[in-house]
Amino acid sequence: MSKKNELMNQYVADLAVLNVKFHNLHWNVVGERFEPVHVYVEKLYDDLFEKYDEVAERLKMLDVFPLASMKEYLNVSKVKELESRNYEIPEVMQVLKAELEGLRALAINIRTAADEEDDFGTVAMMEDHVAGFDKELWFIASALK
Ligand SMILES: [Fe+2]
Repeated sequence: MSKKNELMNQYVADLAVLNVKFHNLHWNVVGERFEPVHVYVEKLYDDLFEKYDEVAERLKMLDVFPLASMKEYLNVSKVKELESRNYEIPEVMQVLKAELEGLRALAINIRTAADEEDDFGTVAMMEDHVAGFDKELWFIASALK
């Protein structure tokens, strides 16, 4: 498998694990501003879940099998899961920031590798993803000020 396809499968795995991790934060966030953070995290995991399917389908278009089991996702993903407990809002925002920065960096690596292969469909997809992460990271940075 090419380096790019490996990175894309790592992205699929990270998006799958983060879907669970962000649900944890969505359910277990606590604090005075509970409701907007609870809703915001839902918006984020809905977006990650769309990206998960989009990237897996892109791999199918490239004639590569996307990873498709929880076992493989946990083997491949670099995401560290969280225990189920209460999470204060600043802690939630820090976790979101770190994870979205990680996804953004991975999307940039995929974009660079795809460009080297003239895989323009993947280049365009990753550029959209990076732009989307930039927007969420701005929201999060503003919330942390
Ligand atoms: Fe919910």
